[in-house]
Amino acid sequence: MFHLVVCVSGGGTNLQHIIDRIADGTLAGVSISRVISNNPGAFALERAKKAGIEAACVSPREFETRDAFYMALVDCVKEAAPDLVVLAGFLVAIPPEMIRAFPNRIINIHPSLIPSFCGKGYYGIHVHERVLGRGVKVTGATVHFVDEGMDSGPIILQKAVEIQEGDTPEVLQRRVMEQAEWKILPEAIRLIAAGRVRVEGNVTHILPDGTQGMA
Ligand code: GAR
Repeated sequence: MFHLVVCVSGGGTNLQHIIDRIADGTLAGVSISRVISNNPGAFALERAKKAGIEAACVSPREFETRDAFYMALVDCVKEAAPDLVVLAGFLVAIPPEMIRAFPNRIINIHPSLIPSFCGKGYYGIHVHERVLGRGVKVTGATVHFVDEGMDSGPIILQKAVEIQEGDTPEVLQRRVMEQAEWKILPEAIRLIAAGRVRVEGNVTHILPDGTQGMA
């Protein structure tokens, strides 16, 4: 079994799509060991419980310092011994200790075509506000490995989505989720679990099916 820990902060629609792809066999051989949130009110925790998955909350409010929070978060992830950590709308800067503990084993979904509209301040609906404010005609989503920078790790998959006349940030957010995020995040997990993603520096290569592990 290939074990995931999924970290979430909000609604958890990306988490739900991973749960659904495991249930329908698309992600055969993959299981979610634990869902972790920084936000006790995250609906994603309810989704996890409903699917019979252990749900844990590590809230920064319970700790006196940011470092103490980070330590508890890293411990909570490590305790579940995941093969892969999936940040599915996890709006917490990942501490370096976590990246060192799971090199090229943490992935993130970001709601734009990186390197556009990413980095500090670019999260959730704000990404789509800025996309519309800039007037670009194409946006999308990116799954990438997490390194010590912000949205700077090797890109695994991207999918483009067209902007339409009259889009609001909310309408565009929903279209980016439906057409891109909910597809490429489970697909990236499937490829990694199958040993088909090779990282070379800041570039990834997707190996053809059946060639994984070959010299
Ligand atoms: C998603 O759109 C995800 O791409 C974004 O948060 C949303 C979470 O939605 N993540 C970021 O902006 C990270 N920088 P969800 O809780 O319904 O999956």
